[in-house]
Amino acid sequence: MRRAGFNSVMNGCSSLASKRGKPRNFCGAWPYNYECSEKGEHRPVLLEEVLEHLRIVKGGIYVDCTFGRGGHARAVLSKLDERGGLLAIDKDPEAVEAARDLHEHDPRFTIERGSFTMLERLAERSGISGKVNGILFDLGISSPQLEVPARGFSFLHEGPLDMRMDPTAGKSAAEWLATARQEEIAEIVWRFGEERFAKRIARAIVEARRTTPITTTRQLAAIVARASPAQQRTHPATRCFQAIRIFLNQELAELSMALPQAVRVLAPGGRLLGISFHSLEDRIVKRFMRDQARGGDYRVAAPAEKQYPALRLIGKFRASRWEVMNNPRARSALLRVAERLA
Ligand SMILES: C[S@@+](CC[C@H](N)C(=O)[O-])C[C@H]1O[C@@H](n2cnc3c(N)ncnc32)[C@H](O)[C@@H]1O
Repeated sequence: MRRAGFNSVMNGCSSLASKRGKPRNFCGAWPYNYECSEKGEHRPVLLEEVLEHLRIVKGGIYVDCTFGRGGHARAVLSKLDERGGLLAIDKDPEAVEAARDLHEHDPRFTIERGSFTMLERLAERSGISGKVNGILFDLGISSPQLEVPARGFSFLHEGPLDMRMDPTAGKSAAEWLATARQEEIAEIVWRFGEERFAKRIARAIVEARRTTPITTTRQLAAIVARASPAQQRTHPATRCFQAIRIFLNQELAELSMALPQAVRVLAPGGRLLGISFHSLEDRIVKRFMRDQARGGDYRVAAPAEKQYPALRLIGKFRASRWEVMNNPRARSALLRVAERLA
């Protein structure tokens, strides 16, 4: 029985407290998707479109690769009956903590802490590889990540310059900026922020850190602002913060690694959904889906088969005017949908 299989395996490997209450080990534009209301509550973007294009079947198995605060996940769960299952992943310990209640009380739901580059491994361990009806990537950062000053993602709030989705792994932005070479900073700010003044900004950062370590968000924002032309439509630190965040969290590299896994994990007819908030992310999703629809060069299938298309393109979707009116941050969201071929 699918439910028993899904849950029994998931219970064995889950990263959060067990459903019996015993602890388990962890295994583990400007920020474009600033998805929160004026009151600061979290709002999933393109929710109706996601539910529609996942084509949810009541007893199906779904994976939410970017749980966040579970806006999409909870809506998917509400469409499933007791035979269904939802595996969620997030690398942010606070997102995993936010899922604790659901994890402990809903036997259809499991969350894993870690990168979505673990997708295939987790699916195999759970016995759901090749059986998944739909996978969602809602990319970037969540509003709680952006809004809590201690996370250091926002130049609007004074906070420690961190910017890690998983603050227990890798270097913080402050640590990286303390030692990175000027050329390296310029390259990152240019490549991941598409910032025209990347060289000037990198020079200013290196000059500033000679006298004082750069440890806070506002400190960095002020250095970037001084190095940038005054007349700009967005805050001058927008692109620089985006670039450092993407670099530190390996956002584009991890996306490129996870997409081929998603195709392998899907059942024939299963749907792959990617929501991106800027062109760098969207380019990866778009090219991947297009290549797979042509029989492209990502190693999705075994080498002998890899010339055959693995995906069928379904389309791309933007937020309705109504949604943008109610949640202006949905303006830059772009959902792409493809379907696994048999
Ligand atoms: C835009 S939010 C998702 C919001 C979610 N759909 C909701 O409705 O609440 C993106 C989430 O994905 C997580 N994330 C981003 N990249 C990740 C990765 N490579 N692996 C795992 N989680 C990731 C972030 O920590 C963040 O919580």
